Amino acid sequence: MINEIALANKRDSQQEYTVHLFEFCNLSCSFCWQDHDDRVGIDTVLEKLVPIEKFLIKERNKKVVFNIMGGEIFADAIYDETLNNDYIKLAKGIVDLGVKYNIEVGLNWVTNLVTSKLSLIENLLVETRKLGVTSSLFTSFDPAGRFNKPNFEVYKKNLYYFKDDLDGIGILLTRPNIFFWLNNPDSFLKQIYDDGFYIYADYYMPDETAKFQAPSDEDMYNIFKLFVDDYPKIDPIASWITRDKNYISCRSSKLILQDNTMCMCGNLVQGPNDKQMYNTNIQSADNSEIEHKFLEKYDCLTCEYFDRCTLGCFMQHDYKHREEILDECVYKLTHRYIEDARIQQRRHSVTAEAVPA
Ligand SMILES: C[S@@+](CC[C@H](N)C(=O)[O-])C[C@H]1O[C@@H](n2cnc3c(N)ncnc32)[C@H](O)[C@@H]1O
Ligand code: SF4
Ligand code: SF4
Repeated sequence: MINEIALANKRDSQQEYTVHLFEFCNLSCSFCWQDHDDRVGIDTVLEKLVPIEKFLIKERNKKVVFNIMGGEIFADAIYDETLNNDYIKLAKGIVDLGVKYNIEVGLNWVTNLVTSKLSLIENLLVETRKLGVTSSLFTSFDPAGRFNKPNFEVYKKNLYYFKDDLDGIGILLTRPNIFFWLNNPDSFLKQIYDDGFYIYADYYMPDETAKFQAPSDEDMYNIFKLFVDDYPKIDPIASWITRDKNYISCRSSKLILQDNTMCMCGNLVQGPNDKQMYNTNIQSADNSEIEHKFLEKYDCLTCEYFDRCTLGCFMQHDYKHREEILDECVYKLTHRYIEDARIQQRRHSVTAEAVPA
Protein backbone atom coordinates (compact mmCIF):
# COMPACT_ATOMS: atom_id res chain seq x y z
CA MET A 1 0.00 0.00 0.00
CA ILE A 2 2.78 2.45 0.97
CA ASN A 3 4.64 1.40 -2.17
CA GLU A 4 1.58 2.13 -4.29
CA ILE A 5 1.14 5.61 -2.84
CA ALA A 6 4.84 6.39 -3.30
CA LEU A 7 4.75 5.24 -6.93
CA ALA A 8 1.43 6.95 -7.67
CA ASN A 9 3.11 10.30 -6.95
CA LYS A 10 5.87 9.46 -9.41
CA ARG A 11 3.74 8.40 -12.37
CA ASP A 12 3.43 10.69 -15.38
CA SER A 13 -0.13 11.89 -15.84
CA GLN A 14 0.31 11.56 -19.58
CA GLN A 15 -0.56 7.97 -20.55
CA GLU A 16 1.20 6.07 -23.30
CA TYR A 17 -0.48 3.50 -25.56
CA THR A 18 1.70 1.27 -27.74
CA VAL A 19 -0.12 -0.14 -30.74
CA HIS A 20 1.68 -2.97 -32.55
CA LEU A 21 -0.27 -3.07 -35.82
CA PHE A 22 1.66 -6.18 -36.91
CA GLU A 23 5.07 -7.80 -36.35
CA PHE A 24 6.24 -7.96 -39.96
CA CYS A 25 9.57 -6.20 -40.34
CA ASN A 26 12.31 -5.61 -42.92
CA LEU A 27 15.01 -5.91 -40.23
CA SER A 28 15.72 -8.64 -37.74
CA CYS A 29 17.34 -6.96 -34.76
CA SER A 30 19.05 -9.46 -32.50
CA PHE A 31 17.41 -8.14 -29.30
CA CYS A 32 13.84 -7.93 -30.64
CA TRP A 33 11.25 -10.43 -29.45
CA GLN A 34 8.94 -10.20 -32.48
CA ASP A 35 8.31 -12.61 -35.35
CA HIS A 36 9.35 -10.55 -38.36
CA ASP A 37 7.76 -12.80 -40.97
CA ASP A 38 4.34 -12.72 -39.32
CA ARG A 39 1.83 -10.86 -41.53
CA VAL A 40 -1.05 -10.93 -39.04
CA GLY A 41 -2.57 -7.46 -38.72
CA ILE A 42 -1.31 -5.89 -41.97
CA ASP A 43 -4.74 -6.14 -43.63
CA THR A 44 -6.73 -5.30 -40.53
CA VAL A 45 -5.22 -2.05 -39.28
CA LEU A 46 -8.60 -0.42 -38.60
CA GLU A 47 -9.69 -3.28 -36.32
CA LYS A 48 -7.26 -1.84 -33.74
CA LEU A 49 -9.84 0.87 -33.06
CA VAL A 50 -11.93 -1.68 -31.13
CA PRO A 51 -9.33 -2.44 -28.40
CA ILE A 52 -8.22 1.22 -28.45
CA GLU A 53 -11.77 2.26 -27.54
CA LYS A 54 -11.91 -0.40 -24.79
CA PHE A 55 -8.81 1.17 -23.23
CA LEU A 56 -10.07 4.73 -23.70
CA ILE A 57 -13.44 4.03 -22.04
CA LYS A 58 -11.56 3.33 -18.81
CA GLU A 59 -8.81 5.93 -19.25
CA ARG A 60 -8.33 8.20 -16.25
CA ASN A 61 -5.64 10.42 -17.74
CA LYS A 62 -6.57 13.39 -19.89
CA LYS A 63 -3.76 12.99 -22.40
CA VAL A 64 -2.75 9.85 -24.29
CA VAL A 65 0.17 9.56 -26.70
CA PHE A 66 -0.22 6.74 -29.19
CA ASN A 67 3.00 5.07 -30.29
CA ILE A 68 1.93 3.36 -33.49
CA MET A 69 4.35 0.75 -34.79
CA GLY A 70 4.95 -2.74 -36.16
CA GLY A 71 7.23 -4.56 -36.84
CA GLU A 72 8.02 -1.90 -39.40
CA ILE A 73 5.11 0.23 -40.56
CA PHE A 74 7.10 1.78 -43.45
CA ALA A 75 8.79 -1.41 -44.74
CA ASP A 76 9.11 -1.20 -48.54
CA ALA A 77 7.59 -4.66 -49.08
CA ILE A 78 4.22 -3.68 -47.57
CA TYR A 79 3.95 0.11 -47.32
CA ASP A 80 1.82 1.40 -50.20
CA GLU A 81 -1.04 3.84 -50.73
CA THR A 82 -3.62 1.38 -49.45
CA LEU A 83 -1.77 0.84 -46.18
CA ASN A 84 -1.07 4.57 -45.89
CA ASN A 85 -4.79 5.29 -46.27
CA ASP A 86 -5.45 2.76 -43.50
CA TYR A 87 -2.96 4.58 -41.25
CA ILE A 88 -4.70 7.90 -41.98
CA LYS A 89 -8.13 6.35 -41.26
CA LEU A 90 -6.75 4.82 -38.06
CA ALA A 91 -5.46 8.25 -37.00
CA LYS A 92 -8.85 9.80 -37.78
CA GLY A 93 -10.55 7.05 -35.74
CA ILE A 94 -8.22 7.73 -32.78
CA VAL A 95 -8.84 11.49 -32.96
CA ASP A 96 -12.62 10.91 -33.06
CA LEU A 97 -12.37 8.62 -30.02
CA GLY A 98 -10.34 11.29 -28.24
CA VAL A 99 -13.16 13.77 -28.83
CA LYS A 100 -15.78 11.22 -27.73
CA TYR A 101 -14.02 10.54 -24.43
CA ASN A 102 -12.66 14.06 -23.93
CA ILE A 103 -9.03 12.97 -24.07
CA GLU A 104 -6.26 14.87 -25.84
CA VAL A 105 -4.37 12.57 -28.16
CA GLY A 106 -0.94 12.71 -29.82
CA LEU A 107 0.46 10.41 -32.50
CA ASN A 108 3.97 9.00 -32.81
CA TRP A 109 4.77 6.78 -35.80
CA VAL A 110 7.63 4.53 -34.64
CA THR A 111 9.94 3.43 -37.45
CA ASN A 112 13.39 2.02 -38.16
CA LEU A 113 13.61 4.53 -41.08
CA VAL A 114 14.99 1.88 -43.44
CA THR A 115 12.55 2.75 -46.19
CA SER A 116 12.40 4.35 -49.62
CA LYS A 117 8.79 5.51 -49.24
CA LEU A 118 9.58 9.06 -48.19
CA SER A 119 6.75 10.83 -50.01
CA LEU A 120 4.17 8.45 -48.54
CA ILE A 121 5.49 9.20 -45.05
CA GLU A 122 5.32 12.92 -45.79
CA ASN A 123 1.74 12.49 -46.95
CA LEU A 124 0.91 10.60 -43.74
CA LEU A 125 2.32 13.41 -41.61
CA VAL A 126 0.53 16.14 -43.58
CA GLU A 127 -2.83 14.37 -43.57
CA THR A 128 -2.74 13.39 -39.89
CA ARG A 129 -1.66 16.87 -38.78
CA LYS A 130 -4.74 18.21 -40.59
CA LEU A 131 -6.74 16.34 -37.92
CA GLY A 132 -5.55 18.95 -35.42
CA VAL A 133 -3.25 16.73 -33.37
CA THR A 134 0.52 16.37 -33.07
CA SER A 135 1.84 13.71 -35.42
CA SER A 136 5.57 12.94 -35.41
CA LEU A 137 8.05 10.22 -36.18
CA PHE A 138 10.05 8.38 -33.55
CA THR A 139 12.97 6.17 -34.48
CA SER A 140 15.50 3.86 -32.87
CA PHE A 141 19.24 3.66 -33.19
CA ASP A 142 21.46 0.76 -32.14
CA PRO A 143 25.06 0.31 -33.28
CA ALA A 144 25.00 -3.44 -32.58
CA GLY A 145 22.49 -6.00 -33.84
CA ARG A 146 20.30 -3.69 -35.97
CA PHE A 147 21.68 -2.52 -39.32
CA ASN A 148 23.84 -3.94 -42.08
CA LYS A 149 26.00 -1.49 -44.03
CA PRO A 150 23.57 -0.58 -46.86
CA ASN A 151 20.55 -0.10 -44.65
CA PHE A 152 22.58 1.93 -42.14
CA GLU A 153 23.32 4.34 -45.02
CA VAL A 154 19.60 4.55 -45.83
CA TYR A 155 18.85 5.14 -42.13
CA LYS A 156 21.36 7.96 -41.81
CA LYS A 157 20.06 9.72 -44.91
CA ASN A 158 16.43 9.42 -43.78
CA LEU A 159 17.22 10.51 -40.24
CA TYR A 160 18.49 13.87 -41.47
CA TYR A 161 15.75 14.11 -44.10
CA PHE A 162 13.07 13.85 -41.39
CA LYS A 163 14.99 15.72 -38.66
CA ASP A 164 12.24 18.31 -38.16
CA ASP A 165 9.50 15.66 -38.00
CA LEU A 166 11.27 13.54 -35.40
CA ASP A 167 10.09 13.51 -31.81
CA GLY A 168 13.22 11.64 -30.77
CA ILE A 169 15.59 8.72 -31.14
CA GLY A 170 15.50 5.75 -28.78
CA ILE A 171 18.73 3.91 -28.05
CA LEU A 172 18.62 0.57 -26.29
CA LEU A 173 20.95 -0.27 -23.41
CA THR A 174 21.87 -3.82 -24.48
CA ARG A 175 25.28 -5.14 -23.50
CA PRO A 176 26.63 -5.12 -27.10
CA ASN A 177 25.46 -1.51 -27.60
CA ILE A 178 27.02 -0.44 -24.29
CA PHE A 179 30.34 -2.10 -25.17
CA PHE A 180 30.29 -0.38 -28.54
CA TRP A 181 29.72 3.11 -27.11
CA LEU A 182 32.31 2.63 -24.38
CA ASN A 183 34.91 1.68 -26.97
CA ASN A 184 33.96 4.04 -29.82
CA PRO A 185 33.88 7.61 -28.56
CA ASP A 186 33.53 9.05 -32.07
CA SER A 187 30.65 6.94 -33.26
CA PHE A 188 27.43 7.98 -34.99
CA LEU A 189 25.88 8.54 -31.55
CA LYS A 190 28.30 11.41 -31.02
CA GLN A 191 27.34 12.89 -34.38
CA ILE A 192 23.59 12.85 -33.76
CA TYR A 193 24.12 14.10 -30.20
CA ASP A 194 26.20 17.03 -31.45
CA ASP A 195 23.63 17.71 -34.18
CA GLY A 196 20.98 18.28 -31.54
CA PHE A 197 18.70 15.26 -31.90
CA TYR A 198 16.70 14.42 -28.76
CA ILE A 199 17.93 10.99 -27.58
CA TYR A 200 16.34 8.70 -25.03
CA ALA A 201 18.17 5.68 -23.56
CA ASP A 202 15.75 2.81 -23.08
CA TYR A 203 16.06 -0.26 -20.89
CA TYR A 204 16.44 -3.68 -22.45
CA MET A 205 13.63 -6.12 -21.68
CA PRO A 206 14.98 -9.69 -21.47
CA ASP A 207 13.62 -12.42 -23.72
CA GLU A 208 15.12 -15.82 -24.54
CA THR A 209 18.22 -14.20 -26.08
CA ALA A 210 18.94 -12.26 -22.87
CA LYS A 211 22.17 -14.18 -22.20
CA PHE A 212 23.80 -12.16 -25.01
CA GLN A 213 21.90 -8.92 -24.60
CA ALA A 214 21.25 -8.22 -20.91
CA PRO A 215 23.73 -5.76 -19.37
CA SER A 216 25.17 -6.29 -15.90
CA ASP A 217 24.73 -3.53 -13.31
CA GLU A 218 28.41 -2.69 -13.86
CA ASP A 219 27.83 -2.27 -17.62
CA MET A 220 24.97 0.06 -16.78
CA TYR A 221 27.10 2.05 -14.35
CA ASN A 222 29.86 2.40 -16.94
CA ILE A 223 27.51 3.67 -19.63
CA PHE A 224 25.72 6.02 -17.23
CA LYS A 225 29.08 7.54 -16.23
CA LEU A 226 30.01 8.00 -19.89
CA PHE A 227 26.66 9.67 -20.57
CA VAL A 228 26.99 11.97 -17.52
CA ASP A 229 30.47 13.02 -18.66
CA ASP A 230 30.07 13.21 -22.44
CA TYR A 231 26.37 13.04 -23.33
CA PRO A 232 24.56 14.80 -20.46
CA LYS A 233 21.60 15.75 -22.66
CA ILE A 234 20.59 12.11 -23.24
CA ASP A 235 17.48 11.30 -21.22
CA PRO A 236 16.78 10.03 -18.58
CA ILE A 237 20.32 11.04 -17.51
CA ALA A 238 19.53 14.68 -18.38
CA SER A 239 16.54 14.56 -16.02
CA TRP A 240 18.69 13.13 -13.21
CA ILE A 241 21.18 15.97 -13.69
CA THR A 242 18.77 18.86 -14.09
CA ARG A 243 15.62 18.05 -12.09
CA ASP A 244 15.05 17.28 -8.42
CA LYS A 245 11.79 15.45 -9.08
CA ASN A 246 11.19 12.99 -11.87
CA TYR A 247 8.56 10.53 -12.98
CA ILE A 248 9.47 6.86 -13.14
CA SER A 249 10.79 5.68 -16.53
CA CYS A 250 8.24 2.89 -16.75
CA ARG A 251 5.22 4.46 -18.41
CA SER A 252 2.96 1.51 -17.54
CA SER A 253 2.31 1.52 -21.25
CA LYS A 254 -0.97 0.00 -22.40
CA LEU A 255 -0.30 -2.31 -25.31
CA ILE A 256 -2.37 -3.60 -28.19
CA LEU A 257 -0.71 -6.43 -30.06
CA GLN A 258 -0.95 -7.55 -33.69
CA ASP A 259 -3.78 -9.97 -32.83
CA ASN A 260 -5.67 -7.27 -30.85
CA THR A 261 -4.55 -8.62 -27.45
CA MET A 262 -4.81 -5.86 -24.81
CA CYS A 263 -2.06 -6.00 -22.19
CA MET A 264 1.04 -4.40 -20.63
CA CYS A 265 4.69 -5.09 -21.54
CA GLY A 266 4.69 -8.35 -19.55
CA ASN A 267 2.69 -9.95 -22.31
CA LEU A 268 5.65 -9.67 -24.68
CA VAL A 269 7.47 -12.41 -22.80
CA GLN A 270 4.64 -14.86 -22.24
CA GLY A 271 6.28 -17.61 -24.34
CA PRO A 272 7.63 -20.47 -22.16
CA ASN A 273 11.27 -19.83 -23.18
CA ASP A 274 10.93 -16.18 -22.27
CA LYS A 275 8.93 -16.60 -19.08
CA GLN A 276 11.50 -18.94 -17.54
CA MET A 277 13.99 -16.05 -17.69
CA TYR A 278 12.19 -14.33 -14.81
CA ASN A 279 12.04 -14.82 -11.04
CA THR A 280 8.41 -13.77 -10.91
CA ASN A 281 5.52 -15.29 -12.77
CA ILE A 282 5.31 -12.25 -15.07
CA GLN A 283 1.73 -11.13 -15.61
CA SER A 284 0.42 -9.96 -18.95
CA ALA A 285 -1.50 -6.96 -17.65
CA ASP A 286 -0.34 -6.24 -14.13
CA ASN A 287 3.15 -5.03 -13.18
CA SER A 288 2.42 -4.49 -9.49
CA GLU A 289 4.30 -7.56 -8.22
CA ILE A 290 7.54 -6.72 -10.04
CA GLU A 291 7.19 -3.04 -9.10
CA HIS A 292 6.92 -3.91 -5.40
CA LYS A 293 9.80 -6.35 -5.61
CA PHE A 294 11.97 -3.64 -7.13
CA LEU A 295 11.11 -1.08 -4.43
CA GLU A 296 11.76 -3.61 -1.70
CA LYS A 297 14.96 -5.04 -3.12
CA TYR A 298 16.63 -1.63 -3.32
CA ASP A 299 14.76 -0.14 -0.35
CA CYS A 300 13.78 2.80 -2.53
CA LEU A 301 11.40 4.44 -0.07
CA THR A 302 14.27 5.22 2.31
CA CYS A 303 16.61 6.31 -0.47
CA GLU A 304 17.84 9.90 -0.49
CA TYR A 305 17.45 10.00 -4.28
CA PHE A 306 13.90 8.66 -4.47
CA ASP A 307 12.37 11.93 -5.75
CA ARG A 308 14.99 12.41 -8.41
CA CYS A 309 15.25 8.77 -9.47
CA THR A 310 13.35 7.41 -12.47
CA LEU A 311 13.91 3.82 -11.22
CA GLY A 312 14.75 1.11 -13.75
CA CYS A 313 12.81 -1.33 -15.92
CA PHE A 314 11.00 -3.58 -13.47
CA MET A 315 11.10 -6.46 -15.95
CA GLN A 316 14.85 -6.17 -16.48
CA HIS A 317 15.45 -6.24 -12.74
CA ASP A 318 13.35 -9.39 -12.39
CA TYR A 319 15.56 -11.22 -14.93
CA LYS A 320 16.77 -14.37 -13.22
CA HIS A 321 20.32 -14.28 -14.55
CA ARG A 322 20.94 -10.55 -14.12
CA GLU A 323 24.58 -10.01 -13.20
CA GLU A 324 24.72 -7.82 -10.12
CA ILE A 325 28.34 -7.22 -9.22
CA LEU A 326 28.07 -3.85 -7.48
CA ASP A 327 27.33 -3.56 -3.78
CA GLU A 328 24.76 -0.85 -4.27
CA CYS A 329 21.94 0.06 -6.59
CA VAL A 330 23.39 1.23 -9.91
CA TYR A 331 21.07 4.25 -10.05
CA LYS A 332 22.13 5.32 -6.56
CA LEU A 333 25.78 5.10 -7.56
CA THR A 334 25.02 7.17 -10.64
CA HIS A 335 23.12 9.85 -8.70
CA ARG A 336 26.13 10.05 -6.37
CA TYR A 337 28.49 10.26 -9.36
CA ILE A 338 26.45 13.23 -10.62
CA GLU A 339 26.62 14.91 -7.18
CA ASP A 340 30.39 14.38 -7.01
CA ALA A 341 30.83 15.83 -10.50
CA ARG A 342 28.81 18.87 -9.40
CA ILE A 343 30.97 19.38 -6.29
CA GLN A 344 34.12 19.12 -8.41
CA GLN A 345 32.72 21.69 -10.83
CA ARG A 346 31.89 24.10 -8.00
CA ARG A 347 35.40 23.69 -6.57
CA HIS A 348 36.86 24.43 -9.98
CA SER A 349 34.87 27.61 -10.39
CA VAL A 350 35.68 28.81 -6.83
CA THR A 351 39.38 28.16 -7.42
CA ALA A 352 39.24 29.91 -10.79
CA GLU A 353 37.57 32.97 -9.19
CA ALA A 354 40.17 33.04 -6.38
CA VAL A 355 43.08 33.15 -8.83
CA PRO A 356 43.78 36.80 -9.72
CA ALA A 357 43.85 37.52 -13.45
C1 LIG B 1 9.58 -3.37 -31.72
S1 LIG B 1 10.23 -1.91 -32.37
C2 LIG B 1 9.04 -1.48 -33.63
C3 LIG B 1 9.30 -0.16 -34.30
C4 LIG B 1 10.45 -0.07 -35.27
N1 LIG B 1 10.63 -1.23 -36.03
C5 LIG B 1 11.72 0.30 -34.54
O1 LIG B 1 12.62 -0.52 -34.44
O2 LIG B 1 11.80 1.44 -34.05
C6 LIG B 1 9.87 -0.70 -31.11
C7 LIG B 1 10.98 -0.45 -30.14
O3 LIG B 1 11.21 -1.62 -29.37
C8 LIG B 1 12.59 -1.66 -29.08
N2 LIG B 1 12.94 -3.03 -28.67
C9 LIG B 1 13.13 -4.11 -29.42
N3 LIG B 1 13.45 -5.18 -28.67
C10 LIG B 1 13.48 -4.75 -27.37
C11 LIG B 1 13.75 -5.36 -26.12
N4 LIG B 1 14.06 -6.64 -26.02
N5 LIG B 1 13.70 -4.59 -25.00
C12 LIG B 1 13.36 -3.27 -25.08
N6 LIG B 1 13.08 -2.65 -26.23
C13 LIG B 1 13.14 -3.38 -27.37
C14 LIG B 1 13.24 -1.20 -30.37
O4 LIG B 1 14.57 -0.76 -30.17
C15 LIG B 1 12.30 -0.09 -30.77
O5 LIG B 1 12.75 1.13 -30.21
S1 SF4 C 1 13.40 -2.78 -36.66
FE1 SF4 C 1 12.08 -2.70 -34.86
S2 SF4 C 1 10.55 -4.32 -35.16
FE2 SF4 C 1 12.17 -4.64 -36.64
S3 SF4 C 1 13.46 -6.16 -35.69
FE3 SF4 C 1 14.30 -4.15 -35.19
S4 SF4 C 1 13.35 -3.56 -33.23
FE4 SF4 C 1 12.19 -5.28 -34.05
S1 SF4 D 1 18.63 5.21 -6.52
FE1 SF4 D 1 18.18 3.02 -6.41
S2 SF4 D 1 17.46 2.76 -4.33
FE2 SF4 D 1 17.34 4.94 -4.75
S3 SF4 D 1 15.26 5.27 -5.52
FE3 SF4 D 1 16.56 4.92 -7.29
S4 SF4 D 1 16.39 2.72 -7.70
FE4 SF4 D 1 15.65 3.07 -5.61
